[in-house]
Amino acid sequence: MAKAGPISRAIVAMTGVMPRWFVRYISRRYVAGPSLEDAVRVMQRLTDQGACFTVDVLGEEITSMEEAKFFLEEYRRVMAQIIEHGFDANLSIKPTAFGLLIDEEAGLNNMRSLVSEAAEHDMFVRLDMEDHRVTDATIEAVLTLHGEGLVNVGTVLQGRLHRTLDDIDRMADALGVAADHRICKGIYLEPEAIAHTSRKDITDATVACVIRSLERGAYVGIASHDDAVINASLAALREHGWAPEHDEDPRDPSPPIRTGKGPGYEFQMLLGVRGPLRRGLRQQGHRTRVYIPYGEKWYEYSIRRLKENPTVGTQVAKAFLMPWTNRP
Ligand code: FDA
Repeated sequence: MAKAGPISRAIVAMTGVMPRWFVRYISRRYVAGPSLEDAVRVMQRLTDQGACFTVDVLGEEITSMEEAKFFLEEYRRVMAQIIEHGFDANLSIKPTAFGLLIDEEAGLNNMRSLVSEAAEHDMFVRLDMEDHRVTDATIEAVLTLHGEGLVNVGTVLQGRLHRTLDDIDRMADALGVAADHRICKGIYLEPEAIAHTSRKDITDATVACVIRSLERGAYVGIASHDDAVINASLAALREHGWAPEHDEDPRDPSPPIRTGKGPGYEFQMLLGVRGPLRRGLRQQGHRTRVYIPYGEKWYEYSIRRLKENPTVGTQVAKAFLMPWTNRP
């Protein structure tokens, strides 16, 4: 996403006066609902479309370690529901919601508890990437947990950051084929000194990160709704010998396929965004994962996303006013 234009800024300015019911009405499409039962219902519906999932409990930076307990407990409930319903699903967590910014060691301990319980069920845990204050600590957490034998964890790397190609190399050097990243553009508008800021540069850099990850043999979650990123990724996949039916792994030696993963890559999209594109990729035989956010904090989440990156407001408004441009 590029710098925000006047329309995006005007939409953000209006959020202060938007009634809560209106924000709920708009965000219904992007958030499963306030409760875990809502997330379960959405997964039941989308399972018929051949999708798999990653579940996110809404909420981010906390102010006391007490709050981290809520997230740990809630993710335990999510895990239990995934197992009970037999969903093809894993977990996405925000490291700051586990306390990473308050006390790095205690935050890591909380994440370790969840990742090790998930490992008992062969379930993967993705550490979402937040703003640049926690990039190093999030990557370190993944490296530390892998070092302890917990290989069911990976993070997200943001194409917009100048550092990301180096991070991909560092993780490939440390983890080999156990490296597993989601590559996305990055939602946080980061300063020019550390990040690309024009739409084209962000897109090109994101594609370069997908290609580098494939070259280095990492498992790649290609997380984008942008045709430019998806088409370039499809071309790179073909070049690296990945067939859409993905029952063959062209790497030699090829690593074992983990539970709930394809060999080598998958496409990932947010709930409510570009459903026809996702279903089309699935029909071509690609593994497609839908990110399912749910929770009581839906209002704060919606407003915060808009403020963090005002261009989201334009996309949401466009999807709402011109539904034919972006169906769920
Ligand atoms: P772009 O923003 O150009 O969108 C392409 C098209 O998709 C738009 O033109 C529009 O049609 C549609 N679209 C995209 N977003 C929309 C929306 N909200 N509403 C309506 N239409 C929309 N970021 C981060 O910093 N850390 C993270 O951990 C994650 N995790 C993550 C997981 C998954 C599964 C996805 C898909 C994305 C993320 N992101 C993220 C967000 C990511 O960094 C990026 O901000 C968004 O995906 C938007 O970028 P696109 O590549 O989709 O392109």
